[in-house]
Amino acid sequence: MKCATAEMSLITSPPSLPLVAPSILSADFANLGNECKAVIEGGADLLHLDVMDGHFVPNLTMGGALCASLRKALPSTYLDVHLMVDNPMAFIDSFTHAGANLFTGHIESNDNPIEMANAIHDAGMDAGLAINPPTDVEAILPYIEAFDLILIMSVNPGFSGQSFIPEVLEKVTIVSERLRPSQRLQMDGGIAPATVHSAKEAGCDVLVAASAIFGTDDYASAIEGLRTA
Ligand code: DX5
Ligand code: ZN
Repeated sequence: MKCATAEMSLITSPPSLPLVAPSILSADFANLGNECKAVIEGGADLLHLDVMDGHFVPNLTMGGALCASLRKALPSTYLDVHLMVDNPMAFIDSFTHAGANLFTGHIESNDNPIEMANAIHDAGMDAGLAINPPTDVEAILPYIEAFDLILIMSVNPGFSGQSFIPEVLEKVTIVSERLRPSQRLQMDGGIAPATVHSAKEAGCDVLVAASAIFGTDDYASAIEGLRTA
């Protein structure tokens, strides 16, 4: 089934300024709809949903039902789903039906990234491929042309609020040189006023941040600060 909301994708044209993607992992879950509306009204370009299975990473978070609720509450918001799970392919149908726009799986939990990219595209979503800090960038280079977005993790996934790992910037430079204008380069983990500049300098144009946005009392200025720093 095609995703009804993805007539024209937000991420396939180069943005004039980096896109800012609040990770709802640090939102107040008891007030999630309002939190999401607040960051969108505060200038966020999209929402980042961190899906964790307790196996691939040592934490449990959210699934398709939550994504479906957000799709209902925010019909035109681009929903970016980051799968930190053992078998991402098993969840493509669930998130397609939940109205996700971007489905990103990890190289570390996927033996056949091309098959995954094709399945995601057949479902009508944009396709992302993520890589963890300890994984050599060579692992993803053969596959990047099949994806709409490459996600370079700048923390070991599992939790928000961790410190940025600057060594991953080297990967950004290597991947950035190989991307087409229609492909995006996303960074996720420890993005904050002190680290965002180096991420952008290296070539990232989609910035995920949880604590640096939801940990403040002024979402609009936090988002603007990350975008323009
Ligand atoms: C980490 C998640 C991130 C996380 C980022 O496993 O993939 O999206 O929420 O949190 P911050 O921005 O606080 O590092
Ligand atoms: Zn994430």
